[in-house]
Amino acid sequence: MWLKDKILEFFSKKEIASIGGGKKAVEKQLAMGKMTARERITAILDANSFHEYDMFVTHEAKDFGMDKKDLPGDGVITGTGTILGHPVCIFAQDFTVAGGSLGLAHARKITKIMDHSIKLGIPLIGINDSGGARIQEGVNSLAGYGEIFYRNTLASGVIPQISVILGPCAGGAVYSPALTDFVFVVDKISKMFITGPEVIKTVLGEDISMEDLGGARVQTEISGNAHFFANSELECFDQIKKLMTFIPWNNSKKAAPYPAKPPKPIYDIDTIIPNEPSKPYDIRNIIKSISDDSDFFEIQELFAPNIVIGFMRIEGETVGIVGNQPLVLAGVLDIDSSDKAARFIRFCDAFNIPLITLVDLPGYLPGVDQEHNGVIRHGAKILYAYSEATVPKITIILRKAYGGGYIAMCSRHLGADFVFAWPIAEIAVMGPEGAANIIFKSEIANSPNPNETRKQKILEYTEKFANPYVAAAKGHVDAVINPSDTRGYLIHSLKISIQKKEIRPTKKHGIPPF
Ligand code: HXC
Repeated sequence: MWLKDKILEFFSKKEIASIGGGKKAVEKQLAMGKMTARERITAILDANSFHEYDMFVTHEAKDFGMDKKDLPGDGVITGTGTILGHPVCIFAQDFTVAGGSLGLAHARKITKIMDHSIKLGIPLIGINDSGGARIQEGVNSLAGYGEIFYRNTLASGVIPQISVILGPCAGGAVYSPALTDFVFVVDKISKMFITGPEVIKTVLGEDISMEDLGGARVQTEISGNAHFFANSELECFDQIKKLMTFIPWNNSKKAAPYPAKPPKPIYDIDTIIPNEPSKPYDIRNIIKSISDDSDFFEIQELFAPNIVIGFMRIEGETVGIVGNQPLVLAGVLDIDSSDKAARFIRFCDAFNIPLITLVDLPGYLPGVDQEHNGVIRHGAKILYAYSEATVPKITIILRKAYGGGYIAMCSRHLGADFVFAWPIAEIAVMGPEGAANIIFKSEIANSPNPNETRKQKILEYTEKFANPYVAAAKGHVDAVINPSDTRGYLIHSLKISIQKKEIRPTKKHGIPPF
C-alpha cells in the first residue's frame, strides 16, 4: 500500500510539473501558433527516446513576490534523447512559465545539461523561447547567462551546438545562440533582438514592430544571425534532423558515412556553364552534378547569396562545400560573403569535415560602402579561415579566378592540398578588359583606332594570361581536368587524404580578424 501511494504521489507531482505555466498559459501559447516546450522536444527527438532530468528543480528567489510563485521546472525542460539514432543533450525553454525567463535555477539546469554534452561528447540542442534575464532575480539572472555563455565558448569546436529560436527571444536569450554553430528560425514565430521595440521607442523615439526589428526573415536575410529559415516548427525540426546526419557527434569523430550514390543524370556537368564567359549560371547545379544523389544541404541560403555554403556527400562521406555564386553579383566576395564562408570553414575544420571549394569570381566587390564598413577586416576572415584549416582542402577553379578572389578561394598558397582547373579557367590579376585598359593605356590612347587597339590588346592579354596553363606551368594548379572528370578527381583526392596530418607552429590560439 505504501509503495502504491508513493507511486501515485509521484505521478501526480509529475503531471503538475508537466503542465508548465498552467492551462491558460498553454492555451495562450497554442493560440500564438506555437507548440509547447514538451511538444517540441517530442517532435524533434526519436519516439520515446527522451529522458528528462531536473523536473522538480525549484527557484529560491524571494523578491518582488517570487516567494509566492511556484514555477514548474523553473521554466525550462532538460534531458537527453536521440535524433535518427544520434544521441543529443537538449533543453527547451517553456514560455508558459514566467515567459521562459532565465533565473538562477533555470540557468543551472541549462549549464548542467551543457556540462553533460561536453563530457559525453554529444551535440547540444537548445530551444529558446524566452524573455531573457528574469527581471525579479536581478544579478543572479545575469550571472546565469554569463555561465551559459562561458560554456557555449568552452563547447565551441568540441561538440556541435544547435539553437532553435521559437518565440520572442531577447537579450541573453539571443547571445547564447549567437555563440552556437547553427541557428534555426521559423516564420512569424521567431524574434531575436538585444533591445526590444519598447526600449527603441523610449531611447530613440522610433516605432518599429518586433517582426521588422528581428523577425525570422530579417535574421536570415539581412543580419545573417540565423542560418535556417522554416515556414513551420515541424519543417524546422526536419531541417535539424537532416543537419544531424551530416555532422559528427564531437570533434574527435567523423560524421557517420552513408551508402554511396551517384549524382542524378539530369545534372550534366558539361552543359551547366554557358558558352559566353560572362553569362551567369547557378553554382548549385554544379554542386548537384558532383554530389551523391545530387543532394545538397544548403546553409544560410538567404544571406549573402553571392557565396553558397553547405554539406553534401561524396561516396557516402560528408564534405563541406564553398562556391562562388555567379547568379548574384557575379559571385564577388564582399563583407557578408566573407563572414559567411569563414565561419563555415572553421566549423568544418573543427569537426573533421573536408572542404571543397568551387571558384568562379571576379574578385572582391569594389565600393565606398564596402571599404567604410571594413571589407579589409571582414575579407581577411576568409583568408584566415582557409589558411588555418587543416582538414583536406580541394579546390576546383571552374571559370574566373581573378586577383584577391583567386588567392582567397582556397588557393594552393593558402594550403589547398589539391587544386584542379577546368580548361576554361581564367587565372589572372584581373579580367582581360580591366587589365588591358591599365597596362596598355598609352598604346590604346595613342593609337589611330583606340577601339580596335583595345580589342587587340584584350585578346593578347586573354591568350597570354586568362587561361589555366600559366598557373599549371608554375605548379599553382596540379592538373587541368575535363569537367566531366571532376567527381572522379574529388573521390580520389578525398580517399588519399584520409590520413592527412599537418604540423603547425605551437601557439595558445591565433587571433583571427573577428
Ligand atoms: C520576468 C518576464 C520576462 C522577464 C517576460 N516575462 N519576460 N518575467 N523577466 N525578462 C513574463 C511576463 O511578465 C509575463 O508574465 C509572461 O512572461 C509573458 O510575457 P508577456 O509580456 O505577457 O508576453 P508577450 O506579450 O508575448 O511579450 C514577450 C516579450 C516581453 C517580448 C518577451 O515579455 C518582453 O519584452 N519581456 C522583457 C524582455 C527583456 O527586455 N528582457 C531582458 C533582456 S536583458 P505573466 O505572469 O504576466 O504571465 C538580458 C540580460 C542579458 O537578457 C544580456 C546578456 C548580454
